[in-house]
Amino acid sequence: MKAAVFSSFGDPADVLQVREVPTPEPGPGEVRVRMIASPINPSDTMVVEGRYGVLPPLPATPGFEGVGVVDKAGPGLMGRFAVGKRVAVINHKGGNWAEYAVIPWKQARPIPDDIPDDQAATFFVNPATALAMVRHVLAVPKGEWLLVSAAGSTLGKMIVRLGRHDGFKTLCVVRRSEAKRELIDLGADAVVSSSEGPVPEQVRRITGDDGPRYALDPIGGEAGTAIFRAMGKGGRLVVYGSLTDAPIEVDPRALISTRKTVEGFWLGYWMAERSIPGALLLFREIAALIRKGVLAADVGTSYPLDRIGDAVREAAETGRGGKVLLKVPGADRAAGA
Ligand SMILES: NC(=O)c1ccc[n+]([C@@H]2O[C@H](COP(=O)([O-])OP(=O)(O)OC[C@H]3O[C@@H](n4cnc5c(N)ncnc54)[C@H](OP(=O)(O)O)[C@@H]3O)[C@@H](O)[C@H]2O)c1
Repeated sequence: MKAAVFSSFGDPADVLQVREVPTPEPGPGEVRVRMIASPINPSDTMVVEGRYGVLPPLPATPGFEGVGVVDKAGPGLMGRFAVGKRVAVINHKGGNWAEYAVIPWKQARPIPDDIPDDQAATFFVNPATALAMVRHVLAVPKGEWLLVSAAGSTLGKMIVRLGRHDGFKTLCVVRRSEAKRELIDLGADAVVSSSEGPVPEQVRRITGDDGPRYALDPIGGEAGTAIFRAMGKGGRLVVYGSLTDAPIEVDPRALISTRKTVEGFWLGYWMAERSIPGALLLFREIAALIRKGVLAADVGTSYPLDRIGDAVREAAETGRGGKVLLKVPGADRAAGA
């Protein structure tokens, strides 16, 4: 089969190559999936760059999520029920940027027929993270401000629409003024740009001196520090990414006297704590909210696997727009989708 492979860490456009590799065979409790499409998420490219929390032994194939059809089950009963089903391919080890991927059967989640392939490809990582952070970890009450940095990201836009749906207010932070309009049109309650002056002051002009009590940041560095400072007393900041690789500066006095807190979030850890019924409920919630458009991803250009270099270059562009997808040519028709 063909797979995107990297043998050293570096710029994805330089180190990724599409190669012929042996088609993987499913072991006990595993299924093999004929891939249809897989998104290029920041976590995938950070792995290739060697700056993600967990790195694979090399050579490796990236790709943590996607959609495909189960074509073979390994030894064991449960996997057999999945054969022929179109599934979300949740691949904690990576490996979805290929014609076939092997995963535990439990991580092959059937996708309802009415959800199109492009949305099914991005069914899990961002929608589950948005729901987990907003409804479960922070449990943002109706009417409260939620401060959201990198708000123009695919995930940021989901949170803005979730705010409209659930009744909390989103105060969005972007780095480019031209990104503001789209978020207002999407339903953001306020949008500021870090290019237009210090973020804490811009935020206070909107919320008053109290400041928001809930905040989300995937950037770190100066941007994350500004988010921490912009929060009001008792503010809770959830850090869920490290787009700059730089540390957030936290004034100990703010932790002590204003009782602000900072915590990390990683979907892998959060999911590991879900019961089987809890995970099923989450998947049903995601499907319902994708149908309503709330957790639907903005999908941009699709590239065939062969054009991996062009795909990762576009995914890394500033102000890129929708999510870039990698597609396996002919796989959707083979699946009858
Ligand atoms: N912890 C978890 O479990 C978890 C799960 C899912 C996602 N995430 C994280 O969530 C974040 C968003 O993911 P996504 O798929 O929605 O990303 P995406 O659609 O690729 O968007 C990335 C966004 O980040 C902005 N950005 C990139 N570098 C930046 C920088 N140095 N300073 C300010 N803004 C910057 C971009 O701004 P422009 O529009 O200006 O280019 C863009 O809006 C990523 O960090 C990802 O790793 C974490």
